[in-house]
Amino acid sequence: MLLCHLDELPDGSTRGFKVAGLRCKVIVVRRGDRVYGWRDLCPHYAGGTPMAWKRDAYLNGEGTHIACAAHGAWFEIDTGVCVQGPCLGKRLTRVPLEIRSDGTVAMATSGR
Ligand code: FES
Repeated sequence: MLLCHLDELPDGSTRGFKVAGLRCKVIVVRRGDRVYGWRDLCPHYAGGTPMAWKRDAYLNGEGTHIACAAHGAWFEIDTGVCVQGPCLGKRLTRVPLEIRSDGTVAMATSGR
């Protein structure tokens, strides 16, 4: 499942993608030449809650962590672990991604 091209995802940015078959968006965060994928479901509540306060706004003000707008939880971008907020120690659900040779970002087959 193709999501975007690296050119559409500047370093330090995030985007949310709707994916057929998933009930939530997939968050993609770019850090240099790496991309990290997470389901847009905060683990604070069972069942999960979408985290952005506006379109594609998934990071805290400093851009250091994924932030949930509902109650302020912060998650590490590379591990998905909550390091601040009401769900401390819980983690986001990873969506394995791959960067293909042509620069497209896609969900790895095991990410569904
Ligand atoms: S729903 Fe995300 S911190 Fe409460």
